[in-house]
Amino acid sequence: MNSQLRREYLDALGLKTWTLRTAHGADDAPSLVIASVPAPSAGTAPARRVPAAREVPVAHEVPGDVSPAREAGADWDELRARVAACTRCGLSATRTQTVFGVGNPQADWLIVGEAPGAEEDRRGEPFVGRAGQLLNSMLHAIGLEREQVYIANVLKCRPPGNRDPAPTEAAECLPYLERQIALLKPKIMLAVGRIAAQNLLRTEKTLGALRQQVHRFGLSQVPLVVTYHPAYLLRTPTEKRKAWEDLKFARDVISRV
Ligand code: URA
Repeated sequence: MNSQLRREYLDALGLKTWTLRTAHGADDAPSLVIASVPAPSAGTAPARRVPAAREVPVAHEVPGDVSPAREAGADWDELRARVAACTRCGLSATRTQTVFGVGNPQADWLIVGEAPGAEEDRRGEPFVGRAGQLLNSMLHAIGLEREQVYIANVLKCRPPGNRDPAPTEAAECLPYLERQIALLKPKIMLAVGRIAAQNLLRTEKTLGALRQQVHRFGLSQVPLVVTYHPAYLLRTPTEKRKAWEDLKFARDVISRV
């Protein structure tokens, strides 16, 4: 990616004060320096190197798949049909339609969010609202087009009022995502937001405690990296810098798979 394009993507992320560290003048150097990002309390932060994935310990959280056999054998079409007809929880009564997932079925990257919002419920596709636009920019920033990755949610149906998914709803729905993962065989999973991370890793830990580590998901031990939800970043733009660190971290992880 050329430096102009990358700058445009970073601008879209609101990271206008980031500069590339170009050891030998290359515009695609693997790591970046935060040159002058103002700390939330104002002032000038000293240059700080973002840690490379290999420098942080692997978090050996290895949740088993919740119920790996439940959707066993279903191919993409069959799985999509099962999801569309699902009445396993009360959300089936309030949804407009299910939101199965979208993207390249051969994708290396699987992005997992929480649940459809109002716009996703209306259009039947994940991350198509404002948060989706920011997610697209986040992907762009690491050289990925939306069409190159696969995007899905923990829940396939919208919780009314965008409330958090109930544990029973997540438990009923996760086998669909697990089957998607089994069919996709991603090289990396990026969990965006606390709800996705906690459900996938079956932990109560905070997002802050889960990011910047390589987790492993399920029996196939897919590397899983956690970052902030784009909707949260829209509300809290000062955290975009950390999200950018996470994206580079994930890119570093996949480069080593
Ligand atoms: N938020 C999510 O977590 N998923 C979507 O699909 C949309 C918004």
